[in-house]
Amino acid sequence: MTNGWLYNKKLPGPLIRVREGDRVRVKVFNDLAEPTTVHWHGLPVDLKADGVPGVSQGLIGVGQEYDYEFLAKRPGTYWYHPHIDLQIDRGLVGALIVDPKNSKADPPYDREYLLLVDDWLPGAPVAGRDPVYTDYLINGKTSAGQTPMLVKKGETVRLRILNVSGATAYAFTVDGHTMRVTHADGQPLFPVTTKAIPIGPGERYDVYVTANNPGKWSIAFANLLDRSRTLVRAVLAYASATGNVPPPNYVPVALRTAPLLTYAQLKNKGTGGGLFARPTRTYDLSFTMGGMFRYVWMINGQAFPNASPIPVSYMDKVRFRAFNRTMMYHPMHLHGHFMRVHGSAGGTTAPLVKDTVLVPPGSMIFPGRLDVDFLADNPGNWAYHCHQIYHMGAGMMRLVEYVGRDGDGDGLADGKDFSPASAYPVTWTEGLGGKFAVGSRVRLVAQWKPGEQVFWFVGLPLAQGLSLGSLGVLGIRPPLLYLGRTGTTARNVATIDLPIPGDPSLKGGRLGIQALATQASLKPGLRLSTRSYLTLR
Ligand code: C2O
Ligand code: CU
Repeated sequence: MTNGWLYNKKLPGPLIRVREGDRVRVKVFNDLAEPTTVHWHGLPVDLKADGVPGVSQGLIGVGQEYDYEFLAKRPGTYWYHPHIDLQIDRGLVGALIVDPKNSKADPPYDREYLLLVDDWLPGAPVAGRDPVYTDYLINGKTSAGQTPMLVKKGETVRLRILNVSGATAYAFTVDGHTMRVTHADGQPLFPVTTKAIPIGPGERYDVYVTANNPGKWSIAFANLLDRSRTLVRAVLAYASATGNVPPPNYVPVALRTAPLLTYAQLKNKGTGGGLFARPTRTYDLSFTMGGMFRYVWMINGQAFPNASPIPVSYMDKVRFRAFNRTMMYHPMHLHGHFMRVHGSAGGTTAPLVKDTVLVPPGSMIFPGRLDVDFLADNPGNWAYHCHQIYHMGAGMMRLVEYVGRDGDGDGLADGKDFSPASAYPVTWTEGLGGKFAVGSRVRLVAQWKPGEQVFWFVGLPLAQGLSLGSLGVLGIRPPLLYLGRTGTTARNVATIDLPIPGDPSLKGGRLGIQALATQASLKPGLRLSTRSYLTLR
């Protein structure tokens, strides 16, 4: 598509496929005209790799690089996207698949296809109103551009459906077939059969289809709120079938009329944990709109960033009770944790486990309701937000913040357990215009706890990095190591200026920046910061 902002010039971006237990390193080069970040949606990574600017990292400036490193802890179908403004709606989306270590963990299948479903704008997204999409895409193409997904009679096909849209919730069907739903948001289910599935922005379903009905069939997507029209379709084509593919506007009967799958039918098959008999914290979250003429979406009357964090403590049993007092679906996503859904077929012992839940619409008097539980087992500050990105941009987000206890048991209630600003030192450079010119001074900024110490390191990035054990990896070459030491201000930031010699031969060179932050006593509160790079111009 023209006008897109893409990962590796591809729409969708390159598939990242790894195995459970792998350490994954992704190098991001920002060639966009704006700063960006990358978030690994659904995979519970350490806060450091979570990609929320100002919370877990600085922005990746124009012309800068950033290394993400995370452990692929849980198998499943995930995805990645920027976590800034409306950049998702430019085309910056891609799939992340973690295959199970045990290849027999999932039911067997003969073939697999990915379907990344996306809504497409002709130009730049505009904040402050609902977008008007001109196209709907599967794997970056409209219905007309679809390459048929081939099957042979008798085969079992695994379809991984990812809704990477900015704002559209869909219903979908595989015409002529029944779907066996095996995973929701990557997490294993006791399989359930259905003909039609609702899927909100951010959600994923894995479905198995038995190829027992030769022909060329539409895999059709409609708007969840208007199932009378096919917005986009892929084609499931039997190798033996002749004849034409179904026309793009063909509406399968099941798309229009089949009962939609509900969370109430689903039961988790893994070890997602049960619902809590006695939560230690319960939050009621009321979703409202700012009134007739104001495009503001609020949680408990507050619009982010003018909103208070939601405090939790390490190992809290947290319950979120959502009251949707708007007439829209809201796909609510929690970073860093899996949510256990109330009212699923798994009851209290094996509830449905998801990272994004579609909260049904309602009214002021009869709100749409959905409750979830999660265990606060991943210290840090984590975003909780609507994945309709225009709602998120207009306030529908909060931070879930760990407070008040020594979360990791290192004897300190410190920055890894909670922080006024971030759980790790976060480093970045001021002046994001890409003008890191030789002969200039660049201001380095680290965000850390008030009144503590930051040791700065700058140098040529090591190819491999120097492992500091449980602290992480220092990415700087020793001879150019140490730049200086500064204290943090009350605003939790430490700054230092880096003078870049006025030597033209340095142009194009890369510098790595990383910091170590400590309590006054050096141990055991040492933390290695996020790492970023700048390229000299
Ligand atoms: Cu898929 Cu906070 O994001
Ligand atoms: Cu919303």
